[in-house]
Amino acid sequence: MLAAETTARANANVALVKYWGKRDAVLNLPSTGSISLTLAGLAVEAAVAFDGGVSDRLEIDGEPAGGEEAERLRRFLDVVRAEAGSSSRARVVTRSTVPRGIGLASSAAAFAAVALAGSRAAGLRLEPPALSALARRGSGSAARSVLGGFVEWRRGERPDGTDSIAEPLAPLDHWDVRVVVAVTSSAPKAVSSRDGMTRAAAAPFYPAWVEGAEADLAAARAAIRARDLEALGLVAEHSALKMHAVGLAARPALLYWRGATVECVHAVWALRAAGTAAFFTIDAGPQVKVLCLPADAARVAAALHALPGVERVLTCAPGGGAQVIA
Ligand code: PMV
Repeated sequence: MLAAETTARANANVALVKYWGKRDAVLNLPSTGSISLTLAGLAVEAAVAFDGGVSDRLEIDGEPAGGEEAERLRRFLDVVRAEAGSSSRARVVTRSTVPRGIGLASSAAAFAAVALAGSRAAGLRLEPPALSALARRGSGSAARSVLGGFVEWRRGERPDGTDSIAEPLAPLDHWDVRVVVAVTSSAPKAVSSRDGMTRAAAAPFYPAWVEGAEADLAAARAAIRARDLEALGLVAEHSALKMHAVGLAARPALLYWRGATVECVHAVWALRAAGTAAFFTIDAGPQVKVLCLPADAARVAAALHALPGVERVLTCAPGGGAQVIA
């Protein structure tokens, strides 16, 4: 007997210490741990019902899902079905407030929301560790969007991935910061993070990237605990720049940045030189996300908005974890 339709909402997250490389590509087990902040307002809502039918019916933002996106969601529903011991086909409707495919972590929010709604609709009640492990199968970074605030996704050691899960680093009200997002291009990204990671893993700088992760994670954990924005911001910039440096040294080379991305980097450094504590990070796309204090967010947003090539600017507060809403 399967539960009726369930709707869940999950927020996107931004990695401050990046996940970039897998030790198992099927289970989405990472080569390193990562640390993120879940962001309010960049959410995906997913309604899931296992109502039989001959095939899965998938709708994303008002359109029938197609191509690789639909395949990925179907494969994920197979994982949910396997866990629930069910073979029933599903109806899934997702609605996003995150622009998709432009490096704003829409897949993290989407798979965290579908993992929660899908597992409940299939009659499972998963605790956060198991829910995180399930969401990870859809998209690695979705493991972190199950939880709110500052989150660490542990690399884990086990081959089955049961210990590769997200854990809270601090309660949501521990530290109020802002992430100002500069959107420099709304075009879909040219290289998916999965393909980017495969390319990066063959690059000559990759071993150094993996080797440096533990030190970055330790520095970020300590900075979050101490609410030390400068320490956290500097390690976040360092992690992001190393991740992109690995791609530059790959063959073929991988470069997610556009001209405006570089302008944003210089603008953040100029803000810092003038006394505003602002620190950037960049994911698998050309957008720039800037960590700062709430009191400085308007100044940071104005500086980024003024740059040629910046299409729009969003300001996000820390957000909560995935929730069932209906
Ligand atoms: O979760 P994926 O497979 O989309 O990979 C996310 C990769 C980065 O966003 C670049 C880094 C991260 O840790 O989120």
